[in-house]
Amino acid sequence: MSIAIMCSGGDSCGMNPAIKSFVDYSYEKGLQPYFIYEGFEGLIDNKIKKAKHKDVAGILHLGGTIIKTSRSKRFYEKEFRQRAYDNLKKYGITKLIVLGGNGSFNALKIFSQEFDISVVGIPATIDNDIYESSYTLGVDTALNVIKNALDDIRNTSSSSKRAFVVETMGRDFGYLAAVSAITSGAEICLIPEIKIDYESLEKKLKKEIKNGRDYILALVSEGTKQTEELALWIQTNLKMQTRKIVLGHLQRGGNPSVFERRMANEFVVYSIDKLRKEKMKSAIVYKNCKFKFIDLETISNKKQVLNKKIIKQLEHMVK
Ligand code: F6P
Repeated sequence: MSIAIMCSGGDSCGMNPAIKSFVDYSYEKGLQPYFIYEGFEGLIDNKIKKAKHKDVAGILHLGGTIIKTSRSKRFYEKEFRQRAYDNLKKYGITKLIVLGGNGSFNALKIFSQEFDISVVGIPATIDNDIYESSYTLGVDTALNVIKNALDDIRNTSSSSKRAFVVETMGRDFGYLAAVSAITSGAEICLIPEIKIDYESLEKKLKKEIKNGRDYILALVSEGTKQTEELALWIQTNLKMQTRKIVLGHLQRGGNPSVFERRMANEFVVYSIDKLRKEKMKSAIVYKNCKFKFIDLETISNKKQVLNKKIIKQLEHMVK
């Protein structure tokens, strides 16, 4: 029995540990593992190869993905999905694991509805925005990368009595900015889920400045598109010299944390065990310390919502 793995969308730390677990566990269970290189693009172009133990030696600690990834426009067209399926058939691959986020799960849903293939999507994105999953592969390392950056920024910010407005990734989900603001003690946090109250924030911060506050750390989630606006507001209203930093793709850097390595293994082992027994059209999710499978139809129609406790903790940073 042949089984394949591929990555899709933005890379995230934890993909390599997952790939290693995939190869090791497939062989352990008597399956022939295959790599599909470069995501759905590579599947269309037949970039498929038998996976060997030596391919995954020494990759556990590496960020990114050794089998590469892509965002595929062609996969939206039936003609190319047909080509992708024909390629899988050539190798006798009947089971497929995709490491990716919402866009990839949606593509996988369509593919598994059209063709006779058993699939499981493993949440792998720094955004942590998969419905019913409190964790996605890559978010822990990304949060630590942001934390390190904020520790450094705070040094210069407090030394030079400046405000720093730091933009995080996350698409339209404010998780990265919110958790970073809470764990690094920011004064302001802007996320798509909460409307900022400039008036009361101004009053509060002016009072703090009067009482000695001489620097400000502000986190902005990219989805708000308000980084410029906030920087200008601070400069104008709080009369504090302000600098902007867009952390960008650095947030995908670093080496997978211990937690990502553990979770990568768990996600893969559960997924392979399920695929061995049943025909799947699902994604695996992790919530309340438990793994479960949700069908792709459901997951692709639902949006993840930010935990209420997190929202509550942010209150003093938005008003
Ligand atoms: O979905 C992961 C993510 O890193 C988002 O946070 C970000 O908006 C996007 O990917 C960036 O995509 P790209 O690497 O294609 O520029």
